[in-house]
Amino acid sequence: MAINGVQVFDNIDGLSGAAAEFFVTRVRQALTRRGMFSVALAGGNTPRRMYELLADKKMASRIDWRRVCIFFGDERSVPPDDPQSNYHMACEALLNHVGVPKPQIFRMHGEWDDSKAAARDYAEHLEELPPSLAGVPEFDLILLGLGDDGHTASLFPDTDILNNTQDRVAAVFVDKLNTWRLSLTLPVLNNARELMFLVAGESKSEIMRKVLVGTNGSKQYPVQLIEPRGTVHWFLDSAAANRIT
Ligand code: 6PG
Repeated sequence: MAINGVQVFDNIDGLSGAAAEFFVTRVRQALTRRGMFSVALAGGNTPRRMYELLADKKMASRIDWRRVCIFFGDERSVPPDDPQSNYHMACEALLNHVGVPKPQIFRMHGEWDDSKAAARDYAEHLEELPPSLAGVPEFDLILLGLGDDGHTASLFPDTDILNNTQDRVAAVFVDKLNTWRLSLTLPVLNNARELMFLVAGESKSEIMRKVLVGTNGSKQYPVQLIEPRGTVHWFLDSAAANRIT
């Protein structure tokens, strides 16, 4: 498990504020050095507060959103206006409030009946990113959450996406949820310049303990397959960190 920095904050507000500051810093660095910034946003609930803080006028004004490309790490099999949609959450909390040009927001078509076609469609959009190692698209930053079963993005335990090293985006049927998901695959996740994990709440404390200290190097959980060439930053609240010293 690649760990470059683990920061623990009193609560979700402290975690989100620090994560938002980190995001602003990385965008500004990338824009200075490369003129553009590409990020894959995380879904679920934890990132919502961070996105809301980024949308705050004062903080948002520190980013030239016209030069930011927004992608998603994964998506549920729901339409874009469904409250369960990761795209919907990001729009409500952030994208509807900042000036990212619409053509630079790349949504996964979770609503398509043919999830595999949706995965192929999204992989084509990834080709717009600069390739790096062996032509794998390279994000400047990928945001990820962590499920209490050790999943991240939609890399769920015992699913075939964990062995998919060919595709950039895959459709994965998640038995425990009885639904299809779309997700970036490990080659893309591991090719990011930087990854940031946002993990909050008591319900994540045991998986955090197992993932960071508890499996003697074995890779029991999907998140432990995240071994990027870039740096990995963990933003935790004290509840999620209360079983790790
Ligand atoms: C999703 C996410 C998923 C999420 C974790 C944590 O679509 O649900 O991509 O990987 O990040 O399940 O979710 P919470 O932040 O809601 O705990």
